[in-house]
Amino acid sequence: MIKVFNMYFRMMIVLILSTISSSIFAEGLYLQILNKTVLNAEQIQKSKQKIEKYKPIKVHEELVVPPFHKRGQMNASLEHSICTGCHLSPPHTKSDRTRTFMNMHTKFIACETCHFRPETVKLSYRWEDVRDGKPLQAKQKLFRQIAEPEEKPEERTKSLHSFYKITPFYQKESVVLRKQSVFAKETTRLWEQGTLDEKSQHRALLHAPLKKEGPECQECHDKQKNFLDLEGLGATAYQIEKIQNNIITQFFSRYKDKQQRIRIMSILR
Ligand code: HEC
Ligand code: HEC
Ligand code: HEC
Repeated sequence: MIKVFNMYFRMMIVLILSTISSSIFAEGLYLQILNKTVLNAEQIQKSKQKIEKYKPIKVHEELVVPPFHKRGQMNASLEHSICTGCHLSPPHTKSDRTRTFMNMHTKFIACETCHFRPETVKLSYRWEDVRDGKPLQAKQKLFRQIAEPEEKPEERTKSLHSFYKITPFYQKESVVLRKQSVFAKETTRLWEQGTLDEKSQHRALLHAPLKKEGPECQECHDKQKNFLDLEGLGATAYQIEKIQNNIITQFFSRYKDKQQRIRIMSILR
């Protein structure tokens, strides 16, 4: 009798513990997709070539979040992203035309917003505190690039916090693969100690659901498009107008291909 009770009791404990842990460590969509991804030989081969070609890209210390002041030159908010464990911070270097803008955007937009865009699911975009992955209440002040004209500068400084980024959510859960996750720890281990084959496979898996490029500027900066629900994110009519009627992005939309050059003078035409 006692034995049966004991077994029952243990089962209850395990059940309770797993319910608690699954609510604390709920798997984001990115990890759920990785768990279902089956790689083919070509993906692994391509990944291998990339690793061999781009030797300088190696893990900066451990992927685990270090104390904020440890890496002075790095934007502290980017250290919370699993991506900067391998990529430079800021990460964009290849496109002369857009890299400065894309690096600027990493201050307020999570890598996943631009690079994780699976076609089969509808994501929603919310402000997230990158330190704990919790969603934030939508607020105009979270839009730090564009202050309301009447806003006092001293109020502004307080909200100049780049730990808050626009992040994709799926079923009320951030999709982001957290740096504290078992998967991230395994990534660090393999990246430091794995064989070339193990690394190639792991890199291929990690990048399988990612897009090489982000959305076009106009996807976020045009009234006709609605990649982001700016109002839902807390932007005021004034801020929305500034984002959607942006001379720089209008200029960018004139480029029809990667090689084309447009003189800065023509911005005025
Ligand atoms: C384990 C190391 C590692 C991690 C973690 C990592 N990357 Fe990469 N990534 C690489 C390497 C190596 C390359 C190939 C060299 C390059 O293009 O910079 C690459 C390439 C890319 C490219 C160029 C396109 C391609 O597939 O070659 C993009 C975009 C990219 N990564 C985005 C990300 C994003 C977003 C994250 C986080 C969700 C991330 N990476 C996490 C190692 C990593
Ligand atoms: C606002 C959208 C946006 C955000 C946010 C963004 N990217 Fe990108 N990313 C792009 C675009 C667009 C490209 C294509 C090349 C370009 O235009 O610079 C790109 C290209 C890349 C590349 C490959 C080529 C290169 O420029 O070296 C890597 C690697 C990359 N991104 C990693 C990241 C990481 C890591 C983050 C987060 C820290 C991130 N990106 C955040 C839009 C974005
Ligand atoms: C994923 C959506 C997204 C994409 C793609 C995107 N932007 Fe933005 N951009 C934003 C948001 C949101 C803001 C406002 C952020 C804030 O105020 O905190 C912004 C702000 C800006 C600003 C500053 C606005 C100002 O008035 O100071 C410039 C300039 C800009 N983007 C240019 C670009 C260019 C150029 C591209 C393409 C190469 C681009 N953006 C692609 C979402 C995006």
